[in-house]
Amino acid sequence: MSSKKDLQLIDYEKDRDLLKSIQGNILNKHGGGIELFVFLKFVSSSNDVSIQLSQLDITSAWEQYQNSKFYKGNESIKMFIGCYLTYNGYKYLGFNDSHIPKNEAFRAGMHSRNLGDPERSEWEEPYNCDIDAALILIDDSEKDLKDRLDELKQAWGSSIVGIQWGHKLENEHGQTIEHFGYVDGISQPIFLKDQYEKVASKDVWDPAASPSIVLEKEPQSDYFGSYLVFRKLEQNVKAFKDAEERLANTLGFSEETEEVAGALIVGRFEHGLPVVKFGSVPDAVRVSEDNDFDYSLDPEGLRCPFHAHIRKTNPRGDSTRSFGITEDTEKDHRIARRGITYDEADRNGDLKQYPEKGVGLLFLCFQRDIINQFEFIQQSWANNNDFPKPFTGIDPVIGQNENREDGKGGVAEQKWRSIKGDQQCSSLAGFVKMKGGEYFFAPSIEFFKNLNTKK
Ligand code: HEM
Repeated sequence: MSSKKDLQLIDYEKDRDLLKSIQGNILNKHGGGIELFVFLKFVSSSNDVSIQLSQLDITSAWEQYQNSKFYKGNESIKMFIGCYLTYNGYKYLGFNDSHIPKNEAFRAGMHSRNLGDPERSEWEEPYNCDIDAALILIDDSEKDLKDRLDELKQAWGSSIVGIQWGHKLENEHGQTIEHFGYVDGISQPIFLKDQYEKVASKDVWDPAASPSIVLEKEPQSDYFGSYLVFRKLEQNVKAFKDAEERLANTLGFSEETEEVAGALIVGRFEHGLPVVKFGSVPDAVRVSEDNDFDYSLDPEGLRCPFHAHIRKTNPRGDSTRSFGITEDTEKDHRIARRGITYDEADRNGDLKQYPEKGVGLLFLCFQRDIINQFEFIQQSWANNNDFPKPFTGIDPVIGQNENREDGKGGVAEQKWRSIKGDQQCSSLAGFVKMKGGEYFFAPSIEFFKNLNTKK
């Protein structure tokens, strides 16, 4: 697959002004191991809040780059700080309608969207109430983060309505994984020229992406921001692992080959190898962050099922094959994932422990248009029984189809190819529970500088 011909990747030197004006973590994931999320509901006067926000020393994309360039692996680097506003937050600060980002989903809030989520009354605090803003602090030192949290508590007092910690989880090879045990964060759209040049192989799948899929002009301004989706997704590891084992038995895999069952669910083996490239059982344990593949040689879903998580969420040409949708249109649905795992069950990285709750993913993604990107992936692909083909079933990892407002709920049985080559039907879903979340906008650095003047 080729990339758009007019694609302009970002060059750190040439695009310095742009990078200085947008927040970090949007174009490139920050590599820090611990993240602290602080949720705010403003209580002071809007003027006071504006002053406090303008003093936050938010990290620009340029600063993030400079910090990473000089980081030698063990010294402490400057803590990352990001700040994001909800529609309510903008209104509280006194912005009139024409100055507030326009995306309909952003303005309505996550709780009012048709994503198949549980009712908002069942969500955790503070997500079950309206939030005005979120801060994200990233560092490798828990102590430094706790010290900064104490300062924030002094400054913001009762405006702080929620605190959420995220800790990077790693496997024995130092790869970043999620709680089901699979390497996460491999496939991302790439916006930066020097990062793109380092991609070892991109003959089949070109990860280059125009910054226009994540950057949106701020209203009445020359600067750019980005929409941020935040979702706290609890993972029932025990139920998932039991289901993997049951599926392995149903499909006739032996103890040596049972890993294949999980790979059919996710679309990659635990150590990253894409199942569509899987050739023999010893492959299964291979450490691989290979992203140079698509599904053109598997048009019937015989190697990687159509419902596998990574095939549902990035169909790599299935929309073209099934519906004639152009490659560029399909690629415009991509998101920049920036999530991190959380552990409130004292799992402490022990992958032999299978908690039923208290662990999960703080799913974050940046995009230019929440409706055409995150919501499209969740609703039209993951939750859709009939994508990319009729009766495919939902995405077994994140698909939700029970609470649909149009009454077309229920889960079509997914079809799985057994070791003998025949098809077995079995519905796998419900291992991930949405505990709450919200839609934010990440304003530009200039926005915070001018906070007291422009409304
Ligand atoms: C607890 C929930 C989730 C888990 C355990 C999970 C796990 C994974 C894993 C293991 C991968 C493969 C590694 C990689 O390429 O990064 C992946 C890829 C991906 N996930 Fe998720 N994910 C979750 C939630 C979501 C959500 C909510 C979305 C969007 C609605 C999403 C979208 C994607 C996308 C777009 C990819 C890359 C697919 C590709 O380009 O091949 N994920 N996820």
